[in-house]
Amino acid sequence: MLFLYFVLLITICVFVVCFIFFVLVQLLAEFTTDAPFVPVPSKVEDDVIKALELNSNNTLYDLGCGDARILLRAVKKHPDIKAVGIEVAFLPYLLAKFYTRNYQNIVIKREDIFKTDISSATHIFLYLYPAVINRLIENIRNQCKPSTRIVSCDFELENTTPDSIIELDSSKPRGKRLCVYKI
Ligand SMILES: C[S@@+](CC[C@H](N)C(=O)[O-])C[C@H]1O[C@@H](n2cnc3c(N)ncnc32)[C@H](O)[C@@H]1O
Repeated sequence: MLFLYFVLLITICVFVVCFIFFVLVQLLAEFTTDAPFVPVPSKVEDDVIKALELNSNNTLYDLGCGDARILLRAVKKHPDIKAVGIEVAFLPYLLAKFYTRNYQNIVIKREDIFKTDISSATHIFLYLYPAVINRLIENIRNQCKPSTRIVSCDFELENTTPDSIIELDSSKPRGKRLCVYKI
């Protein structure tokens, strides 16, 4: 019986330590990154892949890739593409590296989205704050080829008319719509 209490106590301690670690990492990310690690809702992952309209030999970038769930979903659906995730925060970067470890065509880089080279992108996915995507669009326009397809979840670019807006579930706080652009 005493042993069981001991195991329970250790389990609770491990859980509490992990929880505190997670909260601290998220708090740190609030001050050191341009958007926190809030993954795109799993319900809209397939809608994102559809909106991207990927074909063989395309190169998809997720700028601020989190745990790389969109890249994984894209590569499972289109095994011939190349996928690149840019992530600056330590915890999501580690998760992304771990989840993509068996995929030769997914590269995860621990870099700043404002400093990284995105010139090879044919498709870009964004799930970031409006202020961030509006700053980032200049880099995208400067570096990427015309016709690069951009899909932004939930947030529109200022002063840029989208090619299309795909309405999803407006009753949800996240994953309401996808804004599609071609530069
Ligand atoms: C809202 S999450 C989106 C994650 C992922 N794209 C998804 O849809 O599930 C934004 C991500 O961008 C990362 N991020 C924020 N600022 C960044 C920066 N300057 N450079 C690289 N990554 C950044 C955050 O760490 C976070 O994981």
